[in-house]
Amino acid sequence: MSELIDEYFDEALAIVKAAGKLITEHVSGCKEFEFKSCDIDLVTEVDKNVEEMLIGGLSKTFPEHKFIGEESVADGAKCILTDDPTWVIDPVDGTLNFVHGFPHSCISLGLVINKESVAGIIYNPIIGQLFTAKKGQGAFLNGRQIHVSKINELKKALIAFEAGTSRDEEKCRAVMENFKMVVNKGHGVRSLGSAALNMAMVAMGGADANFEFGIHAWDVAAGDILVREAGGVCIDPSGGPFDLLSRRVLCASTPELAQELAESLVQYYPERD
Ligand code: IPD
Repeated sequence: MSELIDEYFDEALAIVKAAGKLITEHVSGCKEFEFKSCDIDLVTEVDKNVEEMLIGGLSKTFPEHKFIGEESVADGAKCILTDDPTWVIDPVDGTLNFVHGFPHSCISLGLVINKESVAGIIYNPIIGQLFTAKKGQGAFLNGRQIHVSKINELKKALIAFEAGTSRDEEKCRAVMENFKMVVNKGHGVRSLGSAALNMAMVAMGGADANFEFGIHAWDVAAGDILVREAGGVCIDPSGGPFDLLSRRVLCASTPELAQELAESLVQYYPERD
């Protein structure tokens, strides 16, 4: 299996690097966009073109593979996860950042086999950060191995946390309560505006935990394996096992920190992917 994963990964990495050029053409912002589910959920032509390039390239080499892509799902494709090798794609994670020219957007590509993330690529071509991970082989930033921090208490933890791209009232209440809780109990709060890059910060030890309600499978499939291969944990924010389609994620440097955070959070359960 590990040789197959290497083969799939190498092909994917070449396409991701080439697709990154579509993003760097717009480093100072992309003013043409459309709205999706609401006025803060945006899509640009670049999102669509990057996804087309990834699906086109990968399906040519691996015709039997399946895909779950953010923009294909927005266009009506079904979000179905089987045991088959499935590429889970966010062509531009941090689209709102991309529109504004805030330089934290990335391509997030996870490979899921038997419903488990086995490889991940998170590539921010704007500031040149390439995060990669393969099952059993560690996690890397630009080829250098990375590890989570050793922080195991909320009072010492820097937490990456997002409000997300929905204005649902119950969700916004949970966001506000959780923000207050982290400000009161934690070391500090950070928001990069990209779920995948927030998880990458945990993987490299820059942040100690990250949680979000309302993300989608494509936001977290690559981050899940990246954090685990860097020595961290990825769970459901209630404390149970991570479920890729649940639209809920909590990752942390240590199981102790993950559990303390899970017990302190106001929970929110969005509709599943
Ligand atoms: C969004 C970003 C954002 C997170 C949202 C995601 P998109 O992805 O990751 O940080 O808070 O939940 O939907 O729409 O930019 O691909």
